[in-house]
Amino acid sequence: MVQTTPFLLVLSLALVAPGLSVRKCVLTGHWTNDLGSNMTIGPVNGKGDFAGSYHTAVTYTTNKIQLSPLQGSQHRTNQKSQPTFGFTVNWSFSDSVTVFTGQCFIDKGKEVLKTMWLLRSRVDNINDDWKATMVGMNVFTRLHSDK
Ligand code: BTN
Repeated sequence: MVQTTPFLLVLSLALVAPGLSVRKCVLTGHWTNDLGSNMTIGPVNGKGDFAGSYHTAVTYTTNKIQLSPLQGSQHRTNQKSQPTFGFTVNWSFSDSVTVFTGQCFIDKGKEVLKTMWLLRSRVDNINDDWKATMVGMNVFTRLHSDK
């Protein structure tokens, strides 16, 4: 009889523990950032590769903004819940390319992508190379309608 209590304790732990697994931060879905830009990331394949689209809210150019493709890669961290990643946006409406790198975090129960980026613009002359790259940060949160 004395044995019953520890047995029940172990049994209830075994039943409850799987449900307590750490929540994963998942890249797939719709995201918006602090500038008001929106992006959609498709499924992440077995190698960690993914594709998607990016609609920037701002541009360095005077061109009309258009939806642009992105391609990226997530670190192979199936065991880990907050993966690092990087992606490239090849802008459809300008000669520029932006590379983003960051980490997908669970912060106060919500997914957040903390990123840094380099935006490379085309310049006509090699002497202008020094001013062709901008750097910045963006924070993305999942669009409410997702998941
Ligand atoms: C361009 O102006 O040539 C292309 C658009 C660049 C938009 C930049 S990329 C980094 C930053 N984050 C955004 O969401 N938009 C700007």
